[in-house]
Amino acid sequence: MERRSVRRFESALALVTGGANGLGLGVARRFVAEGAVVWVADIDPAVEQIATDIGAAAGVPCDVSDAAAVDGVVADLVARHDRLDVCVANAGIGGGAAIVDLSEALYREILAVNLDGVFFTCRAAARVMIRQGSGAIVTVGSVFGRDTPGGAGVYGAAKAGVVAMTQALARELGPAGVRANCVSPGHMATDLYWRAIDRRAARAGASPEQVRADELAEVPLGRFGTGDDVAGLVAFLASADAAYLTGQTINIDGGLQPR
Ligand SMILES: NC(=O)c1ccc[n+]([C@@H]2O[C@H](COP(=O)([O-])OP(=O)(O)OC[C@H]3O[C@@H](n4cnc5c(N)ncnc54)[C@H](O)[C@@H]3O)[C@@H](O)[C@H]2O)c1
Repeated sequence: MERRSVRRFESALALVTGGANGLGLGVARRFVAEGAVVWVADIDPAVEQIATDIGAAAGVPCDVSDAAAVDGVVADLVARHDRLDVCVANAGIGGGAAIVDLSEALYREILAVNLDGVFFTCRAAARVMIRQGSGAIVTVGSVFGRDTPGGAGVYGAAKAGVVAMTQALARELGPAGVRANCVSPGHMATDLYWRAIDRRAARAGASPEQVRADELAEVPLGRFGTGDDVAGLVAFLASADAAYLTGQTINIDGGLQPR
C-alpha cells in the first residue's frame, strides 16, 4: 500500500540531531515534507549544505556531546522562532569491541555521543517545552539496548540508558503536557551499520557479504530498514495521532529474531 502524504506539522518547529545522514536525514526530510520548520544539528561539516538541499530551515554544526554547544543551538532556535515543538535526539555513533579489548578512550567516546548527547539534547529541549506547556521528544535507541551481542557492550549500555532516560523524562514531563518516546531500530541500511558489519566480519574472520547475508536472514520482513521507515514512526510519535502515548520504546526492526 502506498504511503499517503499528510502534513501534520504545518509550521511546527522541529530539531533533529544527527540529521545530516542516515536515519536522521530520513527523519528530517519527513518533517520538512509534513510542513515543519526543521533545524538539523550535526557534527558533519556539510550539515548546512545538506539542510539547504532538503529544504530545512537551518543546518547547524553541533557536537551533541558538548553541553554548551547543544544549549547554544536550542537557544538560537528559540531566539529565532520562539518555540520548539518536536525534538528528535538521533545523533549517535557505532563502534566497540569485546569488553576486555575496549580502550577507555573508545568507551568514553561511545557514551559521550550516545548517552551524554541524548541527555544534553533532551534536557535543553525539555526546558523549552515545559515553559511552553507542549512538545514531543523522540529519542533513538537500538535493539542492542534490549539484547546486546558481544562486541557491542558499551553501545548497548548507552542505548539501554537512552530507554531508561526516555521513560523517566516521560514521567517528569507528562504533567507539563510534554511527551517523550523512544524508537529502537534494528538492522538499518546506513553507513553506521555497514561499518558495524565490517567490524563483525573482521572479528569473525568472515566476509562482510557473509555477515550481511546472515544478519538479513534474521529479519522476517526480508530487507534492511531505511531512514524513511524510521521517519514514519518518529513522525507518528511526535504527532497528535500519538497524543496519549508517552514513555514507550517501540522497536522498528522488521520483526528481528537474532540467531
Ligand atoms: N543503522 C542502524 O542499524 C542503527 C540501528 C539501531 C540504532 N541506530 C541509531 O540510529 C541513530 C542514527 O544512526 P545512523 O545509522 O543513521 O548513523 P549514521 O552514521 O548514518 O548517521 C549518524 C549521524 O549522526 C551524526 N553524528 C555523529 N556524532 C555526532 C555528534 N557527536 N554530534 C552531532 N552529530 C553527530 C553524524 O554526522 C551523522 O550525520 C544512532 O543513534 C544509532 O545509534 C542505528
